Amino acid sequence: MPDKYLTIALAKGRLAELSVEIFMSLGYDCAEMLTKTRKLIFTDEKNKMKFLLVKAGDVPTYVEYGAADLGIVGRDTILEEGRNLYEMLDLGFGRCRMCVCGPESMREKLSSTSGLRVASKYPAIARDYFTGKKNINIEIIKLNGSVELAPITGLSEVIVDIVESGKTLEENGLTVLEEVCPLSARLIVNRVSAKMESGRIKKLVSDIRQKVGELKQ
Ligand code: PRP
Repeated sequence: MPDKYLTIALAKGRLAELSVEIFMSLGYDCAEMLTKTRKLIFTDEKNKMKFLLVKAGDVPTYVEYGAADLGIVGRDTILEEGRNLYEMLDLGFGRCRMCVCGPESMREKLSSTSGLRVASKYPAIARDYFTGKKNINIEIIKLNGSVELAPITGLSEVIVDIVESGKTLEENGLTVLEEVCPLSARLIVNRVSAKMESGRIKKLVSDIRQKVGELKQ
């Protein structure tokens, strides 16, 4: 057994639950993470693994600085944070889309409205899409949730947000106008750990890849 711990940061919530199920099925002792505990760090002594429960937006930070060797988080967070790390594996769960959404009436006006106001929890992704890819000048309004309210109340003309089932849009009279990119959970790795712990990390990545493949069938 190795004497150094490998530390993995999991994005709190549904992604962490699915991740824990994968680690449990690979024989890791992390079931306590699924209980109603307030603990944030869990140790599997036998396998020399530590699991951290982290806010999604902080997972890339822990991994970039090496406080965690690995992390599991949505691609939306990785794109928004723009951290210096390796994206190793598409885990295939947590699938959804980043989209430009708004009232149907905005479809025609999307490219011609100057100073388009775009509300989003993801200002970097929104800016990269409109300014970088489409060369359209926009004003970004950063929000922290319930983003669908913005076009309804006149705070913005459109939003850039995650669409999963489409229910939130539908129930608020909005629609997908353009797709920015597909999203899913990703395994990310610290650049130094990838070199220093390459054997263990490669084995772990290959075990996770195989398990995710089995679960898909
Ligand atoms: C997310 C997202 C959308 C919704 C999409 O919000 O920002 O609002 O889920 O899911 P749907 O297409 O299945 O309806 P979240 O539930 O995280 O809440 P928030 O608005 O407070 O961020």
